[in-house]
Order: sequence, then C-alpha cells, then structure tokens
Amino acid sequence: MSQGNAFADGCAHVAGNYVPIAQAGIPIRDFGFLRSDATYDVVHVWDGSFFRLEDHLDRFFRNIGRLRMTCPLSRDAVAEVLIECVRKSGLRNAYVEAICTRGEPPVETRNPRDAVNRFFAFAAPFVPYADADAKRRGLHLVIGSLRRIPPESVDPTVKNYHWHDLTAGLFEAQDKGADNVVLLDLDGNLTEGPGFNVFCIENGTVLTPGRGVLDGITRRTAIELCTALSIPCEETDIPATRFLEADEVFITSTAGGVMPVTRIKSRVLGNGAPGPITQRLDDAYLALHQDAQYLTPVAYDD
Ligand SMILES: Cc1ncc(COP(=O)(O)O)c(C=O)c1O
Repeated sequence: MSQGNAFADGCAHVAGNYVPIAQAGIPIRDFGFLRSDATYDVVHVWDGSFFRLEDHLDRFFRNIGRLRMTCPLSRDAVAEVLIECVRKSGLRNAYVEAICTRGEPPVETRNPRDAVNRFFAFAAPFVPYADADAKRRGLHLVIGSLRRIPPESVDPTVKNYHWHDLTAGLFEAQDKGADNVVLLDLDGNLTEGPGFNVFCIENGTVLTPGRGVLDGITRRTAIELCTALSIPCEETDIPATRFLEADEVFITSTAGGVMPVTRIKSRVLGNGAPGPITQRLDDAYLALHQDAQYLTPVAYDD
C-alpha cells in the first residue's frame, strides 16, 4: 500500500461507509453470500475515466428489478458511490463492482420477500484478463466438458454468481495447459466463458451467440463497432463444429476488452497470430476510450 492513502489498494462501500478494501466484509447471513442471491455489475476505469458507466448502471438496475429486489440507493447515488470509491483509491485503472444482495430476512423467517436488500461496491486495481504478452500471442482456449447452466434455469442476462460451471471449466482448461475455457449449451452451441463473451469470424462475417449469454457491454461495443466499420455481424447459434473451423476468434470482457484467441483445443487459428478483423476491432475499441461520449472522468484530489 502506498504511504498516506489507506485506500490505495482499493476502496469499498459497505453499510453506507467507505472502508479500505481489506476491511470490507459481508454480514454472514446475507442471502447474497449464503445463496448467491445477488446481482452485480463491473465497469472499468482506464486512464482516470469510467467507460460506459451509464450502460452499466442501466444493466445493473434492470437486473435488480428482474430479481425482484430494490436497490437501497438511487441510480444517481450508486453512480456517486462508484466514482467516490475510485476517487478515494486514487486508482487511474480500476475494476469497479456494484453489488445488490437479497440481504437477510428477520431471524424468525427464511422468506426472501422479508429481506431488506443491500448495496455494496468496491474499486480495486484493474487486472486484465490477458496481459500485453498474452494479447500479442493470442489466447489458447478449450471447450469445457461441462455444459453452461441453461437459460431456462438461470437467466444469464441477469449478471450472477452461479459460476460453478464456469469455474470448473477454468480448472479443466488450466489442467490441459490452456488459458481459458468456453462452454457449450445443452444443444452443443457455443455460449460464453468465465467472465467473457465469445465471437468468431467466418469468411469476413463476425458471429456471436444471440442467446444463453450475458449481454456484455463489451460485446455490445464490439457489435456496434462492426456496424461502424461496415463489418457484417450476426447474432446466431454457433455449433461447436463451426466454431472450431472459424478463421478468427476473440473474446470480450470489461476486464480485458477485445482479446484475440489463436488456439482452440489443438487447432491453431490462421497463422497463429491475432487475426486482422480482431485487430481492427481491438484498435477501434481502444480508440473509443478517447471518445468523451463514452467516458465519465473522475475528479481526483491530485
Ligand atoms: C458470464 C459472463 N459473460 C460475459 C461477460 C462480459 O461482460 P462485460 O463485457 O459486460 O464485462 C461477463 C463479465 O463479467 C460474465 O461474467
């Protein structure tokens, strides 16, 4: 921790107070902890500005409503807390998370209807999914043997902590010497990975699953960039066989932007280097971080 700022490793907001991140705790009976009964959102700060903060807030509040929860803070107040967590930390590059949990019902009942919902937030140093070296060489993915929880059971567009399938897949990928995993749905179509959406490129057309996945903000940005750059893009079912034969593959996430994939299982894509369309989208994504309409600057003390 840097001298003088107790929040330099990150700042959390718990029960209405700002605390150094290492001191932030969750009441043990909170259903968010006991039952994963929570929704959350993650927005990044690069070079001192939030990226697409309003879109993250839209998604966060939509999902709180879908879980029949009420955020104890207004949307403006949530925005203020997120900005304040970053300002206090002094972090120029941060991973900023807002969480709404079911809270805890009174001791004499277990009824989630009786629970008072809670809001938590924190800003922590930004740790990219893929460092510069991994981005240059491209990621190595495998297809996990477990299937993604079906959307008929858990709505994947409500950002959630039902991650057992994704985490098991990540262990499996690492056991096989790969960087990460993508999971298929019960019909054998591509879904997503632990914290990212997936795209593939076939004869110049960008394809991404249209259902059974989170409506990622980075995914949306990539789709919008395709339109802006006149690159055909389709949201569609992608069977594993089609995915494995793609010309290019990339993944998208707030925690990493547009990240090239150069190997799936034992298949090396293209010439083993990030593909040209992926590269164009990555460059365009990075350029959007200079575009004021997407940015919310933080007014730091220094
Ligand atoms: C399951 C899942 N899919 C996709 C994403 C990517 O979404 P975004 O671009 O909004 O970060 C995430 C982000 O955490 C995720 O958890």
